[in-house]
Amino acid sequence: MKKIVVIGGGGHAKVLISILKKNADFELIGYTDPEDKGALLGISYLGEDEVIPSLLANEKELFAAMGVGSVNVNGYREKVYSTIKSFGIEFPAIVSKDAIVNEDVELGEGTVVYDGVVVNSGTRIGIGAIINTNSTVEHDCVIGDFTHVAPGSTLCGEVNVGRNCMIGAGSTVIQSITIPANSLVRAGSVVVK
Ligand SMILES: CC(C)(COP(=O)(O)OP(=O)(O)OC[C@H]1O[C@@H](n2cnc3c(N)ncnc32)[C@H](O)[C@@H]1OP(=O)(O)O)[C@@H](O)C(=O)NCCC(=O)NCCS
Repeated sequence: MKKIVVIGGGGHAKVLISILKKNADFELIGYTDPEDKGALLGISYLGEDEVIPSLLANEKELFAAMGVGSVNVNGYREKVYSTIKSFGIEFPAIVSKDAIVNEDVELGEGTVVYDGVVVNSGTRIGIGAIINTNSTVEHDCVIGDFTHVAPGSTLCGEVNVGRNCMIGAGSTVIQSITIPANSLVRAGSVVVK
């Protein structure tokens, strides 16, 4: 079992905690946040992010999970991720037990795949991405680092999404479309070009 600390104590972190609880590979030791929000789904508050080095001093085999979500394109998640990485802790990719990740898929470190997701063969997902609840990433897609595919979105085959994008909830992107870095796709969009 890998001991893991969740970064962030908001709504997104709560969902991640419940996903980690279902995964026998991880033992949750707590969460960090600028503010003590009390126990989150029974998981204790550890302090601000700066507590990580002292946790690592006591426990070398400690990992981190990115519980900071996003509803916008502002690079905030990447900034938090880089700060936490600079403490020398690793972020494993995390896949919900209730997601399907098919053969020949690559997931970068720190990427999280939520409940009800399907990721199909040939897809490459970068680091720190969020593939959120009930979204579908079809075959041979490329998803850039720190991009958030929000709940219920569908990316058809061979879609290429740049880094730091936000694909709004319930969007559909048809096959072979390229979405440049730092793009925001409004919730409920149908992207055809
Ligand atoms: C596109 C978005 C960022 C716009 O947010 P905003 O800049 O605060 O803009 P506003 O809410 O002020 O809306 C501006 C206008 O666009 C319209 N609009 C906003 N979002 C829209 C959407 N998804 N589809 C169609 N129209 C939309 C608003 O009705 C408003 O129209 P009006 O000027 O005629 O009144 C936001 O609506 C959105 O879709 N965010 C993604 C949310 C999401 O997927 N969250 C998932 C979290 S897990």
